[in-house]
Amino acid sequence: MTVAPTFYVIPSKSVESVIAGNRDQVFDAVETAYRLHAAGDAVNPDSYFLRYPHNPGARIIALPAHLGGAVQKSGIKWISSFPENRAGNLARASAVLILNDATTGYALACIEASLISATRTAASAALAAEHISPNPFEGSLGVIGTGIIARTTIEWLLFRNWKFRKISLYDLDHREAEHFSKWLSEQHNIQADIQNRPEDAVSDASLVLLTTTASEPYLNDEKLFEHSPTVLHLSLRDICTNVILASQNIVDDVDHCLKAKTSLHLTEMATGNRDFVAGTLVDVLNKKLKPDHDRPRIFSPFGLGVLDLAVGNLVLEKAIASKTAIELPQFFSNSARW
Ligand SMILES: NC(=O)c1ccc[n+]([C@@H]2O[C@H](COP(=O)([O-])OP(=O)(O)OC[C@H]3O[C@@H](n4cnc5c(N)ncnc54)[C@H](O)[C@@H]3O)[C@@H](O)[C@H]2O)c1
Repeated sequence: MTVAPTFYVIPSKSVESVIAGNRDQVFDAVETAYRLHAAGDAVNPDSYFLRYPHNPGARIIALPAHLGGAVQKSGIKWISSFPENRAGNLARASAVLILNDATTGYALACIEASLISATRTAASAALAAEHISPNPFEGSLGVIGTGIIARTTIEWLLFRNWKFRKISLYDLDHREAEHFSKWLSEQHNIQADIQNRPEDAVSDASLVLLTTTASEPYLNDEKLFEHSPTVLHLSLRDICTNVILASQNIVDDVDHCLKAKTSLHLTEMATGNRDFVAGTLVDVLNKKLKPDHDRPRIFSPFGLGVLDLAVGNLVLEKAIASKTAIELPQFFSNSARW
């Protein structure tokens, strides 16, 4: 007789310690998930956006997915973005991930997922940075939007051994940049300068990190990137069409990225084609696409649910093994049919 699985709840403390203790495996899991997705051994339907007419800045997104390979799990991340939370020092994003067994369909766990989400985003950005930069692991960094995703991405870049001779910060809210600079100094002994204009933070950066909550593109000066930096466009809606068209555009998934009024979607609407998308990160990993070092290289990842599954599955396995998962054995009470 097949019995219903034990259901687990994985709280943030457990997620945090699994990720901190297994960074190499997390990084590998993210790369493997990208490769499985590209090979067709994954299902990644469109994300579904719940928006509020009375509060257009807020949203909750559902990301269902299935990942094959050695993982064989399905699931859904349900992630909220409420930018106004910041006023009360509450994180903008909060999330849960439900992992399902792909044989019976039963849910296996509910996992705190804001850290999983930030981690997979940052690890995938670090993966892209080292594969599309002419001189990976060194240079100067410019950050626009100094929040949690920027912080997590810098942690992963440092973990992958990047050494920055200079870091420049810009945030619409100067206090956020000050917090960030203090954190860099206290946690990593890195001194950063704070700029008053976005262009001054990126004008001589070889690596640019865009992690704002801008809803409409505002970077419209092609000269901004004329020194051909690597641009990690994680917030997806910062760069205007003319700058997109002057760059080599690399995505995680073409169909996903050209949706929801991202900069790439707006460029497709303006030009009527997708010719400006050079290819995917997996094309670069597989050497089917050569990064163009004579142009800005913009990596725009929509953020795939399969990455959350990959990291969530690792977290579940390690949390059970370390006995930090909370077990709910009677969760599915009436699973036997007779
Ligand atoms: N692509 C992906 O897979 C992925 C995954 C997770 C998050 N994100 C995106 O990353 C972004 C950052 O998320 P977060 O959790 O760090 O948010 P956050 O609220 O912690 O930080 C965002 C920061 O950007 C600043 N900001 C907003 N508009 C700005 C502008 N025009 N110029 C300069 N600074 C500006 C804010 O003051 C804030 O300090 C969000 O847009 C989020 O949707 C993308």
